[in-house]
Amino acid sequence: MEKQEIRTFGRRHGKKLSARQQDLINNLLPALKPTTGDILEIGFGAGEHVRELARAMPNKIIIGAEPFMNGVASLLSAITDPNTNRVMDEYSGIRIWADDVRDFLRTTDSKFSQIWVLHPDPWPKARHEKRRLLSAEFLNTLSKYLVPDGEIIIGTDHWEYFDWILEQIKDTDLTATIPDMEIIQTRYQHKNKAGTDAPKYLILTH
Ligand SMILES: C[S@@+](CC[C@H](N)C(=O)[O-])C[C@H]1O[C@@H](n2cnc3c(N)ncnc32)[C@H](O)[C@@H]1O
Repeated sequence: MEKQEIRTFGRRHGKKLSARQQDLINNLLPALKPTTGDILEIGFGAGEHVRELARAMPNKIIIGAEPFMNGVASLLSAITDPNTNRVMDEYSGIRIWADDVRDFLRTTDSKFSQIWVLHPDPWPKARHEKRRLLSAEFLNTLSKYLVPDGEIIIGTDHWEYFDWILEQIKDTDLTATIPDMEIIQTRYQHKNKAGTDAPKYLILTH
C-alpha cells in the first residue's frame, strides 16, 4: 500500500471569490494545466514571483503549484486582461497546478533548470514539524527533477526553519550554497510574519 502523505499546507479556501475570479477558475484554469515546463515554483501564494519569472524569461514555461484557491484566483486575475479574461502576452508562459505539487510531480517527466520555494510554511510548533515540505525525502525527490546544472532556490525568513533545512540537506545528494541575493518581495515576505530582519536564501545543486 502507498504511504499516506502528510499534508504540508493549511487551508485550501479562504474568503469568497469574486464572480470574475470564479469565472477564471471555471473557464481558464483548466486550459493552463501543466504537462511539462522549464521552471517550477512551489507554493506561489498570490503568484507575484511567478509573474516576475514569466516577465524575465518570456521563452520559458513557468509552472506554479499552489493548493490555496484564493492564491490561484489572485494569480489568474493578475495575468488576464479584465475586459477579455484572456492571458496577457507577457504571461503566456505561465501554467498553473492548483493542488499539491507532489501530485503534479508524479504526472510529469520534466526536468527543471530552476525550482523555487519561497517562504514555505514554517510549521513552527514541534508537533507540526513533520508537515514541513522541505524534508530530506522531498529534497531528494526534487533533485531528480533537476537538469544536470539545475538549482533549487529556497527563501525563508524563518531562521529556525532555515537551519532545519541545512540539517535535512546532509541526508541528500545536494550541495548547498548561501547566495548574496536581493530580497524577493512576495506577499508573505511583505507581511514578515516571523519578524526577522531579512529572509535567508539557499541554492541547492547536484
Ligand atoms: C507561507 S506561504 C508563502 C507563499 C508565497 N511563496 C509567498 O512568499 O508569498 C506557503 C505556501 O505554500 C503552499 N504549499 C504548502 N505545501 C504545498 C505543496 N505540497 N504543494 C504546493 N504548495 C504548497 C501553501 O498553500 C502556501 O500558500
